[in-house]
Amino acid sequence: MYLRLAAVVPAVLIMLCMVALPTIAADDDSAKYSTKDIMKKAFKGPLLKKVAGGGASDAEKKQLHSMLVALSKNKPKKGDAESWTKLTGALVKASEAAVKGDSNAGQALKKAANCKACHNNHK
Ligand code: HEC
Repeated sequence: MYLRLAAVVPAVLIMLCMVALPTIAADDDSAKYSTKDIMKKAFKGPLLKKVAGGGASDAEKKQLHSMLVALSKNKPKKGDAESWTKLTGALVKASEAAVKGDSNAGQALKKAANCKACHNNHK
């Protein structure tokens, strides 16, 4: 009995950490992802498509949102700040709608994630 408890307690603690950590991480979005990272993981990678297509889990939606908030706080290496704020603002808004379960979020995300429009100005 005692032995069993000794095995269960650490397991429960580990599980608690796994639940608590992403929540804490989601609160601090700034400078956590570089623009390059976000491009690789979310834009070129599957995350954005998955969320836009409606097949993402809640955790994936939150991760995308936190990446896009980070993107909006990053400085583009080219182009003016006003254009960057506008383009990334639309992405932040659309991913927030996805987190909230808005049925139009997928369309809004696809529209906001206009690769060429942003790359022409800022890449
Ligand atoms: C809001 C602006 C924005 C949008 C939208 C955007 N990108 Fe980018 N992307 C950038 C910027 C800025 C860079 C340059 C990053 C750097 O080199 O620091 C970049 C770079 C990249 C890179 C090169 C990353 C590397 O390793 O150097 C890839 C690949 C990429 N984007 C893919 C995409 C795809 C695919 C889409 C559309 C589905 C997209 N991006 C939409 C801003 C954007």
